[in-house]
Amino acid sequence: MRVLVTGGAGFIGSHVVEALTAHGHEPVVYDIRTDPGSDVRDPEAVRRALTGVDAVCHQAAMVGLGTGFTDAAEYVSRNDLGTAVLLTAMADAGVRRLVLAGSMVVYGEGRYECERHGVVRPGPRAVADLEAGRFEPPCPVCGADLAPGLVTEDAPADPRNVYATTKLAQEHLAAAWARATGGTAVSLRYHNVYGPGMPRDTPYAGVASFFRSALARGEAPRVFEDGRQRRDFVHVRDVAAANVAALEASPAAGALTAYNTGSGDPHTVGEMAHALAAAYGGPEPVVTGQYRLGDVRHITADSARLRTELGWKAEVGFEAGMREFAEAGMRTA
Ligand SMILES: NC(=O)c1ccc[n+]([C@@H]2O[C@H](COP(=O)([O-])OP(=O)(O)OC[C@H]3O[C@@H](n4cnc5c(N)ncnc54)[C@H](O)[C@@H]3O)[C@@H](O)[C@H]2O)c1
Ligand SMILES: [Zn+2]
Repeated sequence: MRVLVTGGAGFIGSHVVEALTAHGHEPVVYDIRTDPGSDVRDPEAVRRALTGVDAVCHQAAMVGLGTGFTDAAEYVSRNDLGTAVLLTAMADAGVRRLVLAGSMVVYGEGRYECERHGVVRPGPRAVADLEAGRFEPPCPVCGADLAPGLVTEDAPADPRNVYATTKLAQEHLAAAWARATGGTAVSLRYHNVYGPGMPRDTPYAGVASFFRSALARGEAPRVFEDGRQRRDFVHVRDVAAANVAALEASPAAGALTAYNTGSGDPHTVGEMAHALAAAYGGPEPVVTGQYRLGDVRHITADSARLRTELGWKAEVGFEAGMREFAEAGMRTA
């Protein structure tokens, strides 16, 4: 299958390209980063790139938490306008198969249970609580402590920042496109992806990149909050394999199907910092108590649907993945 991989020169996209080639497919890279750059917002360029293409794997996006609200328009432009232009061109060209790089950020805070109130959805954490080091969101009804659980795909969406909002809108656009064209759309809601080729730290990078970049400078990883926030760190080769599985699958036509894409082995951010620092040979992480507005406390997925329906499973374990990442190269620009 000839697959247009938007963002194919990026961290995840370049691994998708490799995995597609290994599976006998023909990936075509479409990325603003290449020379000459190809922008998903450019209708003519997208139209040309879609010639002879059977499917699109849409990884191109502006990622990360960004810098407050200053770059909101740029996120919306790249992620949502870009997706709309791409889908329009696909509709015109008769390309009916889409796999989208979704994100767990669409869920906001993960899934929690209160002993008295069952499953609850805590709102954004109050600045006063964060300042006081109260990082766990309390039960919105009674204020009691909550137990975090695994999020399934039917959990309500609750994007907490600009980036999350644009990732959710991408899914809605893809669903609208699928309904209008009878196409098939899959959103792989990635959790925290890490591995070789991850970009160095910028305001747009992920936490594994911050820690790995600090270690490379000889500095201790600085762990925010109390380090006990839980995430699912999933290896980039496993994410690439999930994309191949989704492209080769036959999902429902005329709709978008979402799949959580995580390792199924959640860890705290503090544990990740320790594993990486140990593999790198120090220095030991420090827990700073700092926080970022818009961050959620715990977010861990149940990726059972992806395993049962697409026959995918994570192959790279946490310890081995972190050891490899400690030694792997990172992208500089
Ligand atoms: N890294 C993660 O942990 C993570 C988690 C959830 C979702 N995602 C999603 O995965 C996808 C890939 O992210 P990544 O981590 O590889 O980031 P990345 O920045 O390495 O890759 C994104 C690529 O998209 C390209 N791009 C950006 N705007 C473009 C445009 N207008 N036209 C064409 N190309 C454009 C960039 O040049 C870059 O190469 C994104 O959609 C992101 O939202 C990533
Ligand atoms: Zn309660």
